[in-house]
Amino acid sequence: MSKVVLITGAGQGLGFAIAQGFYDAGYSVVLTDVDENLVAEAAKSIDDSRSRAIGFKLDVLKKDDFQQSLDFVIDRFGRCDVLVNNAAMTPTTPVLDITSEEFDAVMSVNLRGTLFGCQVFAKYFSENGFGRIINMASLAGQMGGTASGAHYAASKAGIMTLTKVFARQFADHGVTVNAVAPGPVDVPSVRDKVPAEKLEHIINTMIPVKAMSSPGLIASMVVMLASEQSSTVTGACWDANGGIYMR
Ligand SMILES: NC(=O)c1ccc[n+]([C@@H]2O[C@H](COP(=O)([O-])OP(=O)(O)OC[C@H]3O[C@@H](n4cnc5c(N)ncnc54)[C@H](O)[C@@H]3O)[C@@H](O)[C@H]2O)c1
Repeated sequence: MSKVVLITGAGQGLGFAIAQGFYDAGYSVVLTDVDENLVAEAAKSIDDSRSRAIGFKLDVLKKDDFQQSLDFVIDRFGRCDVLVNNAAMTPTTPVLDITSEEFDAVMSVNLRGTLFGCQVFAKYFSENGFGRIINMASLAGQMGGTASGAHYAASKAGIMTLTKVFARQFADHGVTVNAVAPGPVDVPSVRDKVPAEKLEHIINTMIPVKAMSSPGLIASMVVMLASEQSSTVTGACWDANGGIYMR
């Protein structure tokens, strides 16, 4: 029986690339997103037969959605092995213009959504004696960010802290919890937000290797963290930022 992964925010971009990476590695893949139509189409494009890839709505603002999704996945596939907390809002509002409503919205989706996912899945994984959680952090959470907003950067720093807390708590239950911190990745959301000429300038002046990461690289890192072999990697944050930030 193939292993099963659930990914949040998988209707497009990196979440979708990660879903494809797990599918190619032989997993059964559950793509979830707040946008029901988007994620249904995304799952269909990976596996038209719906035998090894399915898509449905999971709003990370609702803890119940995580529990109901987990119950559904166990019912459908008999197991769940991996959770990828990927869903996020990425606003670029200047720091002095961020309202309390926008701050709360970004924190709730990015940080509290990751907390809920970790709570629901770590409990189930620890009862089973095996599980992998991979949280999408960001270079912005490590060095304050460049194009992204302060609320986004702060939420990603918080995700790295949550990753360590859950890693420590569940380390002796066969559950690893890790983060991946990409710098700029070549996905539509980045190309949509930054004009082509400006993006070329950023790549050539700000990124030492003069290239954005490919979505496939990030997917491979996540799939590797999910493997049985990665059992001694926990509480870690793997960077892919082209040398922008070395530590
Ligand atoms: N693209 C990059 O360069 C980059 C760099 C560093 C980190 N990241 C991280 O990678 C992840 C994916 O980034 P992306 O560029 O693909 O983003 P994206 O905006 O293209 O996709 C995010 C997805 O999350 C979904 N989403 C939003 N709110 C949700 C909610 N309440 N519940 C469920 N789903 C919700 C959206 O519908 C969307 O499909 C994010 O966590 C982001 O912070 C991206």
